[in-house]
Amino acid sequence: MKLFIDSGNLKDIESLVPLGIIDGITTNPSLLAKEPGDYREILKRICQTVKGPTSAEVVATDFDGMLREGRDLATIDDHIVVKVPFTKDGVRACKALSSEGIRVNVTLVFSPTQALIAAKVGATFVSPFVGRLDDIATSGMGLIGEILEIFDNYEFTTEVLVASVRHPLHIVEAARMGADICTCPAPVIESMFRHPLTDIGLERFLKDWEKAQAVKA
Ligand code: G3P
Repeated sequence: MKLFIDSGNLKDIESLVPLGIIDGITTNPSLLAKEPGDYREILKRICQTVKGPTSAEVVATDFDGMLREGRDLATIDDHIVVKVPFTKDGVRACKALSSEGIRVNVTLVFSPTQALIAAKVGATFVSPFVGRLDDIATSGMGLIGEILEIFDNYEFTTEVLVASVRHPLHIVEAARMGADICTCPAPVIESMFRHPLTDIGLERFLKDWEKAQAVKA
């Protein structure tokens, strides 16, 4: 399963990419709005750092505007994937941009039928939001299972990008289900590294080693 960082923060991205486990980045207008500076420069630097798919979202809500913004975002870097919201205009824009060879991530997906439509119009990625469904007492991971089942029945190449991830259990479930990608906030990725038994075990190894060196000295 590929691991993306769901962030527009260069510090977070630059600290995690050297670990060799990051395959791409997703941003959205809320995430980029938090970052000071020009969003085009930020996106360019993110692309140069991760050298993998980097989703950048349009803010236009009409078809023509989405096309214009999508084409423009795609000129920033070859790694840019244009993100469009799941609306009728977004679906039309996905079809048009995909047919021009621009990769599209259809976002704000909350149902299997929305995912099916996104796949039919050639989305490279579909982004179901699991955390926001959990927030309204609906199983986010249940939706991932349904989408994977539907995509498996046909020859869609659209990848299932699990978004709105809030904790490591979402990652475990996504990987067990065979989701293509999980995009996670940096603190959730950091949490994957922590285990108290690893820390205790390492401390014990080092202490035992030191003790033995002192006896031999
Ligand atoms: O990038 C879209 C998605 O991951 C947002 O997550 O936590 O705002 O629901 P969240």
